[in-house]
Amino acid sequence: MSGYPPEMQESIRMVEATRARRLKETFPAMSLEEREKILNGFHPDYKGETFQAIRVGVSKGQRMPVELTRIVEGRPHIGPDFDLSAPVAETDVLVIGGGGAGASAALLAQEHGAKVILVTKLRFGDANTMMAQGGIQAADRPEDSPAIHYLDVIGGGHFTNVPELVEALVMDAPPVIKWLEDLGVMFDKEPDGTMVEAHGGGTSRKRMHSARDYSGAEIMRTLRDEVRNREEGITVSEFSPAVELVLDDEGQIAGAVIMNLETGAYAFIKAKAVILATGGSGRLHYQGFPTTNHYGATADGVVLAYRVGAPLGYLESMQYHPTGAAFPEQIVGLLVTEKVRGLGAQPVNRFGEQFVYPLEPRDVEAAALIRECKGRSNGIVTPTGQHGVWLDSPMIELIHGPGTIQRALPAMVRQFSRFGIDITKEPMLVYPTLHYQNGGVRLKADSSCDVPGLFIAGEVSGGVHGHNRLMGNSLLEITVFGRRAGRSAAEYAHRVRPARPTLAHLEKWNRELEEAGGDTGVISPILLPDYTRHE
Ligand code: FUM
Repeated sequence: MSGYPPEMQESIRMVEATRARRLKETFPAMSLEEREKILNGFHPDYKGETFQAIRVGVSKGQRMPVELTRIVEGRPHIGPDFDLSAPVAETDVLVIGGGGAGASAALLAQEHGAKVILVTKLRFGDANTMMAQGGIQAADRPEDSPAIHYLDVIGGGHFTNVPELVEALVMDAPPVIKWLEDLGVMFDKEPDGTMVEAHGGGTSRKRMHSARDYSGAEIMRTLRDEVRNREEGITVSEFSPAVELVLDDEGQIAGAVIMNLETGAYAFIKAKAVILATGGSGRLHYQGFPTTNHYGATADGVVLAYRVGAPLGYLESMQYHPTGAAFPEQIVGLLVTEKVRGLGAQPVNRFGEQFVYPLEPRDVEAAALIRECKGRSNGIVTPTGQHGVWLDSPMIELIHGPGTIQRALPAMVRQFSRFGIDITKEPMLVYPTLHYQNGGVRLKADSSCDVPGLFIAGEVSGGVHGHNRLMGNSLLEITVFGRRAGRSAAEYAHRVRPARPTLAHLEKWNRELEEAGGDTGVISPILLPDYTRHE
């Protein structure tokens, strides 16, 4: 018995009826002009009224989603007179964030001789890394090269990426895969022992390395184990979000104020260098979109770095993954990996017709799904009012043979089978979902930023992907720049001469906000999403 209601099953019959024909046809990719047009008409980033210019700070005037502006222009948890005289701990390098970027950074900082404390808001590993499915890109085949990878990244990012950051990303990619494998990541392999490598949207070569459809969980498991195994050099503190960075009176980083999430008590950790690896902001649900992100993705790092003077960039650009689950209601917004399309599943409308090339760059693909549903009314509307189109997964087995879906997408099979949907036989209903923050704290190639002693890695940063990230470059970014941050922070910590810690930057911040008309009334970083119903 199908988990879909009868009216949706009727549409599935039409999808089945067109399948044989669609298997033989290739839907053309869009021209650059068509892409531009569809983005302007239907991508959420192009809805001007949902953005606002920030009124204060070093990036004053920069546009970002209104939901983010409210938080960035918020009121700090503590005042400038907070007592810094008795730190609870002192360290060379303080890593803030317990995802893949934070773990990679902690490992490299420790290897470079630094004493490391890693603090994380929830549990170690509660992060978007853990939820990543499709894979990690690296150009390590004879027919590929970092130069080709570079061109794909820059093209996908609308040519706005920072070139040195892309260079770092693609050049470090092959050694990072080796590093991960040596640590114990079990990548998918062909029978002859070579890596299975696939396409993602916007890639011109097959270079996606995966661990089934739980690549992020496999990488996070390995990195976390490795950190735990090095408990001599790395101390991990869970449920300890940072609420403010601390500078010294020479403007260098001096540590962070941490909150005990259980008791609400604040404490100062003194550090010679700080690495921010706090992830993104999907839980701000821009424009009301559901999200693939984990519960702690609330833009904390952007808030913290900005208040101590780190410039921001690209925050007018968010990534909406084309295929979030749209049915059943319990899983709305959860990721349906791009790998499903990579394996041959086509997005089709309620009449079973294809309307887009399945592997356009993500922003274009997402805009095409939105147009099909909201612009052309060719989508399905579920009993709870969610819009969606079909992602015709049964095609995968017709292309690659029986058993492929269970082998390549076991987590996806399980996710839908809980609700009576067998994705080997029935398509999935999908709609774009908020997935990734393309922008953030402006990053340099050594993972530093404009604040001495502050290093950045992962989704909290901006510049690597320009205005659109390609699939598989996020797991790559967290490891490449996590490693660079760890190394750079350790080297910095060995040579810096710390001065007196102070929170004087908060006086300046509060004054600026006052002059701009006051703060937004939000205490930030908000740490946890607000799901209270405001009537
Ligand atoms: O579709 C996916 O599996 C997502 C991958 C990514 O965002 O890199």
